[in-house]
Amino acid sequence: MSGSPSAETSEAMGFVDFYKKVKRFRLFEPSVGILGLTVCVIFCFFLLDYRSVRKGVRFPSQSERLLWLRIDGDGGNQSRKKIDFLSDINGGCDVFDGDWVWDESYPLYQSKDCRFLDEGFRCSENGRPDLFYTKWRWQPRDCNLPRFDAKIMLEKLRNKRVVFAGDSIGRNQWESLLCMLSSAVANKDSIYEVNGNPITKHKGYLVFKFMDYNCTVEYYRAPFLVLQSRPPAEVPPKIKTTLKLDQMDWTSSRWKDADILIFNTGHWWNYEKTARGGCYFQEGPNVKMDMKVDSAYQKALETVVEWIHREVDTNKTQVFFRTYAPVHFRGGDWRSGGTCHLETLPELGSSLVPTHTWTKYSIFTQVIATHSNVSNSRTFDVLNVTHMTSRRKDGHSSLYYLGPNVGPAPLRRQDCSHWCLPGVPDAWNELLYALVLKREATKTSNSSRFYAQSTLCSLAKSGFRKRVTPYLSRYLGRQSKLGTRDGLSSKTKEIIKKLLPSVTNMAVSQPSRSRDLDKLLLRPGHLVGPNFEPGPELRDDIKEYVKVLVVGAGGLGCELLKDLALTGFKYLDVIDMDRIEVTNLNRQFLFRLEDVGKPKAEVAAKRVMERVNGVNITPHFCRIEDKPLDFYSDFSIIVLGLDSVEARSYINAVACGFLEYDSEDNPREETVKPMVDGGTEGFKGHARIIVPGTTPCFECTIWLFPPQVKFPLCTLAETPRTAAHCIEYAHLIKWNEVHGGKSFDPDNPEDMQWVYAEAVKRAELFGIPGVTYSFTQGVVKNIIPAIASTNAIISAACALETLKIVSGCSKTLSNYLTYNGVEGLHTKVTEFVRDKDCIVCGPGVLIELEKSVTLKKFIDQLEDHPSLLLTRVSVTHRGKNLYMQAPPVLEELTRSNLDLPLFDLMGGVAKDVIHVNGMAGKGDKKQSCLRKLRVVFRGVDGIADIDMAGGA
Ligand SMILES: *[C@@H]1O[C@H](CO)[C@@H](O)[C@H](O)[C@H]1NC(C)=O
Ligand SMILES: *[C@@H]1O[C@H](CO)[C@@H](O)[C@H](O)[C@H]1NC(C)=O
Ligand SMILES: *[C@@H]1O[C@H](CO)[C@@H](O)[C@H](O)[C@H]1NC(C)=O
Ligand SMILES: *[C@@H]1O[C@H](CO)[C@@H](O)[C@H](O)[C@H]1NC(C)=O
Ligand SMILES: *[C@@H]1O[C@H](CO)[C@@H](O)[C@H](O)[C@H]1NC(C)=O
Repeated sequence: MSGSPSAETSEAMGFVDFYKKVKRFRLFEPSVGILGLTVCVIFCFFLLDYRSVRKGVRFPSQSERLLWLRIDGDGGNQSRKKIDFLSDINGGCDVFDGDWVWDESYPLYQSKDCRFLDEGFRCSENGRPDLFYTKWRWQPRDCNLPRFDAKIMLEKLRNKRVVFAGDSIGRNQWESLLCMLSSAVANKDSIYEVNGNPITKHKGYLVFKFMDYNCTVEYYRAPFLVLQSRPPAEVPPKIKTTLKLDQMDWTSSRWKDADILIFNTGHWWNYEKTARGGCYFQEGPNVKMDMKVDSAYQKALETVVEWIHREVDTNKTQVFFRTYAPVHFRGGDWRSGGTCHLETLPELGSSLVPTHTWTKYSIFTQVIATHSNVSNSRTFDVLNVTHMTSRRKDGHSSLYYLGPNVGPAPLRRQDCSHWCLPGVPDAWNELLYALVLKREATKTSNSSRFYAQSTLCSLAKSGFRKRVTPYLSRYLGRQSKLGTRDGLSSKTKEIIKKLLPSVTNMAVSQPSRSRDLDKLLLRPGHLVGPNFEPGPELRDDIKEYVKVLVVGAGGLGCELLKDLALTGFKYLDVIDMDRIEVTNLNRQFLFRLEDVGKPKAEVAAKRVMERVNGVNITPHFCRIEDKPLDFYSDFSIIVLGLDSVEARSYINAVACGFLEYDSEDNPREETVKPMVDGGTEGFKGHARIIVPGTTPCFECTIWLFPPQVKFPLCTLAETPRTAAHCIEYAHLIKWNEVHGGKSFDPDNPEDMQWVYAEAVKRAELFGIPGVTYSFTQGVVKNIIPAIASTNAIISAACALETLKIVSGCSKTLSNYLTYNGVEGLHTKVTEFVRDKDCIVCGPGVLIELEKSVTLKKFIDQLEDHPSLLLTRVSVTHRGKNLYMQAPPVLEELTRSNLDLPLFDLMGGVAKDVIHVNGMAGKGDKKQSCLRKLRVVFRGVDGIADIDMAGGA
């Protein structure tokens, strides 16, 4: 084991302490016969279209989750079309009773296009990764709402005033309406605050004018609606202010002649916002020190209702009272670290909504019920949003209220009361829009006609109303009904089925197998990788969408399958060409005596599936070269448990073959197919990660593996120097001399004993120590010693790296771990660097050609190319076979191309990538290989700006 090239190279690279280790750390004992493994050239994969390969498979990122939700809008049963709310003259439809439905045509605007938003509502700009919350539309059960049309609304509002009065949730809704309306105004400068006040952090009131329509949309900050002011004289000093429950806020005089007036209150009616800050309740001249917040709230509501009745001309002014908008602090409140972060789907469960929501709500309904009894006529409309909103725990700003440059807020400071925009308040405004139009429609026949016309218009414009995924968590409580509901396309049902587990998992904590995994996947942390998005969706997506290929089902492969299955991967494939032998049983723990002779892949898959619930393992009993390339492109990640350099090299070339580079020679993320490679030999092992284009690929560091030594026969015959030489002499030369035609059977102990005895004789003759029976077996049978515990350690490292790469839950290994348990125990991580000009993972060898060069000449050139040395070349360009060596049919079909100029065959482009396949190497060390070449033609227009750097 001396002076291997790997040792020299690593020393040259300056890994001083690596030197000793590499010397010991030879993964593959050079031995005669390892090359006997035939490397087959399978040309069949030329037949496939490269375009399908190039697509690659990406991890289900957030955007992809959106992708699979993007389904066709034909979910609704057209024959069950609902009546239009506006033509429902009898008013039988309760628009507040319904479902949230997924609608791809939402949101109605983008926050970045809207100037009128406080920073705190711009969740996606502030870093919120998912956009689900913008995609839900409110669908009443018994009728359809008109689609919001800003132009129609603005036309309705011409020369009018819209006033919002209330707390910051009212402001939330007001800003939503500003955005919705302004989306129809081309000249954004025609919308302005009449006093020139900025929108952010402003207290008091703001009046925005839409100049072209002479209308204003105003917000008055009045969290209690009733008057908060100085207390009467001679009260105890702890009373700093009082709420005069029988007087309206001082700005109310500006509200009353609005054309549309929207009230809300509720969030400030609690101890913290009142008595704790020295604010007490006052009725008439008396401060009521003992008054409960809820009774005060009721009194205030009565005051507002009476004020509307008394002061507002409800013939002119349409008054709305928006009911309490629930907060969703789970496990605490806004002070004690309550959370709604990571909620990405709506939910039916009212359990998460604090009960004070319903207290506030029932006080309100009580007040209006009493009022209706008294006045006998409803003077205002109720925007009854409490129920519908309580399901939208996903819509809050959570951590994303701090502005784009500040980053997410700490987990303990979540905002689960305000709403992201675009988002839930848009739905409130759509209901407002519907009710405003409805009033027009029922008031006069004239406006009703106008209205009908414009609804048609807007319906035509928006195309058919999309009714897509019904509100998913509806199904939470009644899963048995799943799929029996009318009007769902089968695709929708499929998606609901997919989503259901994740929805359910959010509600129910899972104490089971994923408990430990959850600690990694559900929590943020400061060691996480760059794109880590913790949450149950991540765990479930890993289950549902990540397909892992395990190459090899031997000692390491068995461990890998078991570890990956237990790590939570659900879809695994395993490929192995071997059958089980008796000698495997000591360490390949998935196999039993009765399995001998059966394919390893099939037995391993079966055994793991028996033991690990829910995992799905597909075995492939064949050589890796037998699979077409698109088989490999199907996997998110490939894990190697191999004992051969050639096989590694092949898979590496396949995975790197998917890699594409952009115009700046940066790898295109969606084409990167990562690999995790494990290898063991006795007490030594390695685990490495290969991210093509980023970390060195197998080929970049091929020098790590000692060359496969084949002893020259003359050495064996004349000058043996090692024990292996003596054994091979007995095995290859002496056996044939003595036994003539009888072939050597390595599984026959007698034959082995004979070879051993001969080897010992020869070793004695030359004075060479070290020939033992087991070493003889090792050399002759080409057995790489394997130890179960080493396999277990390396496999564990590989499974962990796989999880890290897939989920981003931690930074990955960088990039090569060695383990050595021969003397004591030593592990070390070395960061190898990429070979930028690597012919496998680089952007491709650059080849410059004249326009006139024919395909034939080009192929000849490849043979002489110093870094390629390719023979028997087949050429593919953009999925088109230009020339194929085999099968004969294709050869014949493509032969005529040989005399045509390559330039013309490639469609006359100045430069492009082509793929070639052939045999690389010299003499009898040839292997089949796949290479990517960048071909550039001289003297073609546009050539001047081609970057010639890199490549050959
Ligand atoms: C739609 O609903 C009608 C009546 O409910 C039913 O007869 C019809 O089969 C449904 N069509 C589809 C495509 O589900
Ligand atoms: C508000 O809507 C909910 C849900 O549809 C309904 O149960 C409740 O009666 C409504 N309340 C009022 C005051 O309309
Ligand atoms: C603009 O609207 C106001 C009412 O909000 C009205 O008094 C005024 O006359 C309108 N101005 C024009 C130019 O129509
Ligand atoms: C509102 O209009 C109705 C009928 O159009 C009328 O009887 C009533 O007096 C009006 N109310 C006010 C406050 O103007
Ligand atoms: C409203 O009046 C009816 C009878 O007129 C009575 O039964 C009911 O209790 C009253 N409701 C309230 C809330 O006062």
